[in-house]
Amino acid sequence: MATEKNRPVTAIYPGSFDPVTNGHLDLIGRGAMMFDRLIVAVTSNPEKDSLFTVKERIEMLEAVTFDWKNIEVEVFQGLLVDFARAKGARVILRGIRAVSDYEYELQMAMMNRKIEPQIETVFMLPGEAYSYLSSRLVKELARLGGLPKGLVPPLVEERLRIKVS
Ligand code: PNS
Repeated sequence: MATEKNRPVTAIYPGSFDPVTNGHLDLIGRGAMMFDRLIVAVTSNPEKDSLFTVKERIEMLEAVTFDWKNIEVEVFQGLLVDFARAKGARVILRGIRAVSDYEYELQMAMMNRKIEPQIETVFMLPGEAYSYLSSRLVKELARLGGLPKGLVPPLVEERLRIKVS
């Protein structure tokens, strides 16, 4: 997607990824097709109670994105736009599943634009099979022993099983 003076476009796909789901992977695949370089950026900000450590989340992401050559997985701390700037990224990629996501995403996108007007947030829709999927629900189902197949990659399913046992 080299545009504007034909510079390659780097996009950042940020999130908690606790853990990565097939919905995230769907979006990563779409992002990898659209942008020259996609950095999947795992936040290390201690805002949420996470099930997996940042190191575990990165290991899983690296394993499941191994086949894509234009994808990197990194950790970031502090402001997302500072990280994006440091990486020379012009795009922040976020997924919107349903209307309920929109308000939060709008606030973040507008605030990020306020801080750094040069970086655009691009929203993509995941495949409809993943429109109800979230890491939070995956963790809850895994804890209660009722996680259906096909919502997370097999490696993540195995890690979840070990983690909650
Ligand atoms: O997967 P998530 O939890 O919805 O991701 C949220 C994330 C990590 C993208 C967001 O909390 C974030 O960007 N955190 C970094 C701190 C920051 O820049 N905050 C200001 C956002 S306007």
